[in-house]
Amino acid sequence: MSRKNLPLAKVYRLLEPGPVVLVTTARGDSRDIMAMSWHTMLEFEPPLVGCVISNRNHSFKLLKATRECVINLPAVALTEQVVGCGNTSGARVDKFARFGLTPVAAAFVGAPLIAECFAQLECRVVDTRMVPKYCFFVLEVVKAWIDPAVKAPRTLHHRGRGRFMVAGAEIKLKSKMK
Ligand SMILES: Cc1cc2nc3c(=O)[nH]c(=O)nc-3n(C[C@H](O)[C@H](O)[C@H](O)COP(=O)(O)O)c2cc1C
Repeated sequence: MSRKNLPLAKVYRLLEPGPVVLVTTARGDSRDIMAMSWHTMLEFEPPLVGCVISNRNHSFKLLKATRECVINLPAVALTEQVVGCGNTSGARVDKFARFGLTPVAAAFVGAPLIAECFAQLECRVVDTRMVPKYCFFVLEVVKAWIDPAVKAPRTLHHRGRGRFMVAGAEIKLKSKMK
């Protein structure tokens, strides 16, 4: 393989794990949706998810105050909505109304599920020690929902500057793996 210099500012485009998710939060009359792709699994069970939510985002304020959110998983059909939610502020617009998304009451948290997503994870913040330095929240998934009709979801994987890789092909190995 040949090699050329990659500017350090573009490294995230190689490692940004995805899939891109939509994080919902709510406090009183205020509710919000933001796109997020900087997240990582930290534990199997109970599932723990680490994520970076910038303190410049309105979602940060709602999450910090309520310690609850929902991680909603959109597939490729929602790309326009994902980009919209990732480029507007919930401090100024109701993104459910603006982007035609449907809020549904969650079972255990105050933040709403997004009906159009194929899976929804209700989460509570369990560790904020890295928030001051990295805006890194540790979330515990307390309830998970999945659309049984969606077998191989075509999830979005951010490659920077409005470009996405779309998951699709699934390979199944004959050898047993965990
Ligand atoms: C594909 C995509 C991925 C994003 N990932 C993150 C992320 O991981 N963390 C973050 O803080 N912001 C991320 N953003 C930016 C927020 O979604 C954006 O700042 C949004 O406007 C915040 O909305 P809010 O102010 O209503 O919370 C991403 C945006 C896009 C388009």
